[in-house]
Amino acid sequence: MTDTPSSGLHVRIVDHPLTRAWLSVLRDEATDNAAFRNALARLAQMLVYEAFADAPERPLQVRTPVGEASCSRLASTPLFVPVLRAGLGMLDAALAAVPEAGIGLVGVARDETTAMPTEYLASLPQDLTGRPVCVLDPMLATGGSLAHTLDLLVARGATDLTAICVVGAPEGLDALRAWGGSLRLVIGAVDERLNEAKFIVPGLGDAGDRQFGPR
Ligand code: PRP
Repeated sequence: MTDTPSSGLHVRIVDHPLTRAWLSVLRDEATDNAAFRNALARLAQMLVYEAFADAPERPLQVRTPVGEASCSRLASTPLFVPVLRAGLGMLDAALAAVPEAGIGLVGVARDETTAMPTEYLASLPQDLTGRPVCVLDPMLATGGSLAHTLDLLVARGATDLTAICVVGAPEGLDALRAWGGSLRLVIGAVDERLNEAKFIVPGLGDAGDRQFGPR
């Protein structure tokens, strides 16, 4: 969330001993639903922290018990947009870091045979002009769901766009480049490839199913 986002895709891979440790929990097929939800929230907290590393600030003076301190707050109030279902597991962590943020909801389900996104919910402010928007979705596979979500946001005037993902495939990054708009992508890891079913390999399976059970 920099002042003047330049065009194109800007990727920040967050590779840190703690992010790798939580990602290991998420990847492990033996991790149950409750432990998966917890690990996703913990990792999301770290990714959100990184996503705001360059956020513009507004200075303010604060009176402490013993004097005056030069402090700051975020310059503008972001909108978090979790992509349902899987992105819901990142929302509480994002709000814990930025409690004043707004929330928009997008529901997109990937067709299991074609892997194409089908939208079933778009609950967003009509005007996003000038508002920093941060999309939350753990998985970037073909990139179709994220590109669809970004189109919804751009159609409402959003230009300051960040996506926070846990794991992606090179194919998904290519799709975001082809999408063509200006986007910061903050991501925990970029894996090898997609398999025939368009699942990320090695990935972590289906992040929606692993949190909430099969649809
Ligand atoms: C998964 C995931 C992303 C999308 C990624 O959601 O959470 O939203 O697929 O795939 P893509 O990059 O190829 O579009 P899914 O459609 O399985 O829905 P769910 O979150 O409700 O499980």
